[in-house]
Amino acid sequence: MDVGYHSYETESTHTAGKVITCRAAVAWGPGQPLVIEDVQVAPPQKMEVRVKILFTSICHTDLSSWKGENEAQRAYPRILGHEAAGIVESVGEGVEDMKIGDHVIPFFQGECGTCICCRSQKTNLCQKFGVNPLKSVMVNDGKTRFSTMDGNPIFHFLNTSTFSQYTVLDSACVVKIDTKAPLEKMSLLSCGVSTGVGAAWNVANVQPGSSVAIFGLGAVGLAVAEGARVRGASKIIGVDINPSKFFKGKAVGITEFINPKDLDVPVHEKIGAITEGGVDYSFECVGNLEVLREAFLSTHTGWGLTVLLGIHPSPMLLPLHPMELFNGRQIVGSIFGGFKGKTQLPKLAEQCMCGTLNLDEFITHELPFHNINEAFQLLIEGKSLRCLLHL
Ligand code: APR
Ligand code: ZN
Ligand code: ZN
Repeated sequence: MDVGYHSYETESTHTAGKVITCRAAVAWGPGQPLVIEDVQVAPPQKMEVRVKILFTSICHTDLSSWKGENEAQRAYPRILGHEAAGIVESVGEGVEDMKIGDHVIPFFQGECGTCICCRSQKTNLCQKFGVNPLKSVMVNDGKTRFSTMDGNPIFHFLNTSTFSQYTVLDSACVVKIDTKAPLEKMSLLSCGVSTGVGAAWNVANVQPGSSVAIFGLGAVGLAVAEGARVRGASKIIGVDINPSKFFKGKAVGITEFINPKDLDVPVHEKIGAITEGGVDYSFECVGNLEVLREAFLSTHTGWGLTVLLGIHPSPMLLPLHPMELFNGRQIVGSIFGGFKGKTQLPKLAEQCMCGTLNLDEFITHELPFHNINEAFQLLIEGKSLRCLLHL
């Protein structure tokens, strides 16, 4: 990090309105090591914000996109990354809710505030700035704000592209938070923790005394556990094939563990046996159809609800026969935990600051930005929840 966040306002007076040259981790092709190189970042246009990224981490969606497992891989070169926190370097014309020096969190599921979805309390989708893995340019003019040193475009990713010391975002995809909030931890709210906690709070609406099963205990699954713990769930079952995740799980309120590899029956049968027929809620946080089916069958007939959080490679279809829904189980997908980023993230940040929500367990590693490929390996090998990169 070349500047502490307090001396920042002075620095930005030298860069506002100009092209900035900075370091970014550029993806040149699927599965190829990211290359840390100089890139040019254009000034923000109308209703855009240029942010100095101070901390970023790697989420499983970066990993699948990097590997080329979904549609998102098709634009190269590209700057991945969508979990981060930083400081506003400059704002484009018309931006009124943020100014130079504000502490901010980017978020991929934008909120324009005016479309029919944004005006509804029933959804956090946004017709204008909703996440779209195929989108790789800015909405304003269909161009990129990143370019190589010889002037060729570098594409954007998930409305955010945080693997860069500076990035340009639509103002609908970035929100100001309290300057007293610790930015290191706030980066977790940019995706994984919000996705998990919000799935428990906003999507499932977990009730006190209820039972929960969480499949996949990465940062997303453990954030579901934390959300369920805060809501007073009495039984929180964690399912993972990596036993090293069980230790962390305990700290966020998981009461029982199941390693499918240790069982000679399907996971749902085991869960049925220890819960009087099934849990009230199950959450799929892996991105695997077999796991999704187990999660579905693990809930109680009549009222069980399965929330899908994992990103599944396409093309894939739900592993259910339609008639199975007559058993009264429901299944629903959740993007960004149902949170409306602009209006709800500042309050979530406050809940972390006052200790309602405990984020202590999620950052397991910290590395300098230039070690980003090592951070990818930690996630691939299941060794990290989140490795915080310092830019
Ligand atoms: N059964 C149970 N757990 C599994 C299985 C399986 N068959 N396969 C993998 N897992 C576990 C892994 O051991 C790991 O602990 O799932 C966990 C996934 O965690 P991470 O790789 O850390 O991923 P995370 O960032 O938490 O994201 C989880 O949510 O947002 C989506 O794209 C994201 O699909 C991904 C999911
Ligand atoms: Zn993510
Ligand atoms: Zn909108």
